[in-house]
Amino acid sequence: MSQNETVYLNGNYTQKEKAKLSVLDRGFLFGDGVYELIPVYNQHIFYIENHIKRLKNSLDLIHINPSIIEDIKIIDIIKELIIKNNYVNHYIYIHISRGVDEARNHIYTKSCKPTVLIMGENYTPFSKQDIQKGKHAITENDYRWLRSNIKSTSLLANVLIKNKAYNEAAYEALLIRDGYLTEGSASNVFIVNDNVIKTPLLSNKLLPGITRKFLTDLIKKHNLEFSECEISEKDLFDSDEIFCSSSTNPVVPITKLDNMIVSEEAGPISMKMYDYTQDFIKEFYS
Ligand code: PDD
Repeated sequence: MSQNETVYLNGNYTQKEKAKLSVLDRGFLFGDGVYELIPVYNQHIFYIENHIKRLKNSLDLIHINPSIIEDIKIIDIIKELIIKNNYVNHYIYIHISRGVDEARNHIYTKSCKPTVLIMGENYTPFSKQDIQKGKHAITENDYRWLRSNIKSTSLLANVLIKNKAYNEAAYEALLIRDGYLTEGSASNVFIVNDNVIKTPLLSNKLLPGITRKFLTDLIKKHNLEFSECEISEKDLFDSDEIFCSSSTNPVVPITKLDNMIVSEEAGPISMKMYDYTQDFIKEFYS
């Protein structure tokens, strides 16, 4: 039960329900922090080097010293949580805020000591049947800030957008900035056109998803045609297949976009990618 789960908070292992933060924590007051989500498959930590690299980059971009990752031996903490909680297939969240300051002030004290929270979350990924059926997505204007490459805990825009999608019975909202696709509110996006898999180029406008990296590795391994390029709103609506990627569900085919049917069910390349991810996870994390 999640209430009795052990979490790590600032050097201590404690029960999730007993873990407490100061009201002066800048993560609470300003959303001044970053986070990371790492899947655990069969007790193994997935793509750990890539996740740690992105976390360090996020810390660096908000001027928190990334050496904290080595100082607290973060990988050992994750392993300890897996053992203590008997996690088999699970998700680990690492939240690092700038810490507790002397007063509520936009300007932070340089000596502020970061708050580190590491905890598990249990999501059930979609079944293969659900994946085959595909999901509905809406499009939305990407009104987020222009530092979306930082995995920041300041997620208000993403929260509002994802809830808009939810209230319209959609799985995801695909974001359009200046006429071009960036990503989803909580996922990266791929399209397929004439058998070529395409995804937007990395930039400050989207998160460098680790599943995006995992999928590009699989695409190369299986010699599929692939392009990282600009994708216009028109390209998106003209695509043969669309799928979203994230750590919780590596491949989610989108079969309906706004009022347009993309396909009756998930397309062949989306299903191929889904199968490759499941095969890889079984092979390397068993
Ligand atoms: N979010 N883009 C955004 C805005 C995201 O929030 C996420 C993941 C991704 C995909 O990244 P990755 O493949 O590394 O999971 C892209 C997760 C699900 C979350 O915030 O909980």
